[in-house]
Amino acid sequence: MNHQNEIMIKKETTDKNGLNTLSDQDNDTKKGLGEKWPEPTVRVQSLAESNLATVPDRYIKPPSERPDQTIIINHQPKTAAINIPVVDLSSLLSGSEDEKERISEACREFGFFQVINHGVRPELMEAAREAWRSFFNLPVEAKEVYSNSPSTYEGYGSRLGVEKGAILDWNDYYFLHYLPLVLKDLNKWPSLPFNIREVMDEYGEELVKLGERLARVLSSILGLKEEQLQEAFGGEDVGACMRVNYYPKCPRPELALGLSPHSDPGGITILLPDDKVVGLQVRYRDTWITVNSHPHAFVVNLGDQIQILSNSIYKSSEHRVIVNSQKERVSLAFFYNPKSDIPIQPLQQLVTSNNPPLYPPMSFDEYRLFIRTQGPRGKSYVESHISSC
Ligand code: OGA
Ligand code: NI
Repeated sequence: MNHQNEIMIKKETTDKNGLNTLSDQDNDTKKGLGEKWPEPTVRVQSLAESNLATVPDRYIKPPSERPDQTIIINHQPKTAAINIPVVDLSSLLSGSEDEKERISEACREFGFFQVINHGVRPELMEAAREAWRSFFNLPVEAKEVYSNSPSTYEGYGSRLGVEKGAILDWNDYYFLHYLPLVLKDLNKWPSLPFNIREVMDEYGEELVKLGERLARVLSSILGLKEEQLQEAFGGEDVGACMRVNYYPKCPRPELALGLSPHSDPGGITILLPDDKVVGLQVRYRDTWITVNSHPHAFVVNLGDQIQILSNSIYKSSEHRVIVNSQKERVSLAFFYNPKSDIPIQPLQQLVTSNNPPLYPPMSFDEYRLFIRTQGPRGKSYVESHISSC
């Protein structure tokens, strides 16, 4: 991390929270995040299953950050009329100008779209989601074997960020790597339910292909050569990883969040939402839109690396997850990322004297340490990364 970036991040941290973990975190940033969480891990699922009447203080958001109560009570958001655009990938790839226009506008307006006719079999999508549902329903001891640490985040986890005393989100998750192959370690994947490794292997292969297709589409609608974005991601050496989110029922959903507002730090996120339970919300101007996903669709959103590479022509989207008291929710977020150790900066073709580069070069490995250290913080990382030169 260069000196200038260090200064920008420090400023952000003190300004926003006044929490002072700066010098420790700076050290951590330099030497990696270590093997230990700052506090003993509490599984949200265990809290949910202990039939508490309310949620522990650690999960209560300050009033200004709580979800809008009408949404929780009615399950019928007022903003339902605005929904995230649905793009038909197969028509798009066969040259449909309408679809091209739709996706292009979705990228500029929301940084979010849903994709149908994407080529991944619905049975595989279902099998993947249900395998993870079974995993989370295993007894605690079977899951604890895979307990993760902040050094790589791989495995079964219950927090994002290593700040002592932070307000936590109402979810448990599982994080695993697909690419590069050297990071794919099947021993870190669960062995139960019996078919999970096999199903997730196939799912990963399919989603990598979908990621490649989407990268080509985004590149061409930016007016670039089709391969350009993929090349900027490191060509054959892209990264891919997945976070499976498990949001247990919450006794006081109006006080907590399943996942706090954030933009994804990486490239392209391909989310398989729960087909029965809503929860994902996208910020659109001053409101939060609840995503009602189309059957068999993936929900795609652009991460910070796309905002950086496109020199802010496309914005990464800010999103969050709300919880409810009636149903648990399972989602699979697949992250198609740049190779982690190459510098990422605005693409030359998108930079002119009127549009100078907005972001200094930084590798994704360095960049993602912000969220891994400090947890979800809206779009503050990409905003503080703006170049001051
Ligand atoms: C994520 C995410 C949304 C969801 O994992 O980064 O935004 O619906 N998940 O679970
Ligand atoms: Ni996200």
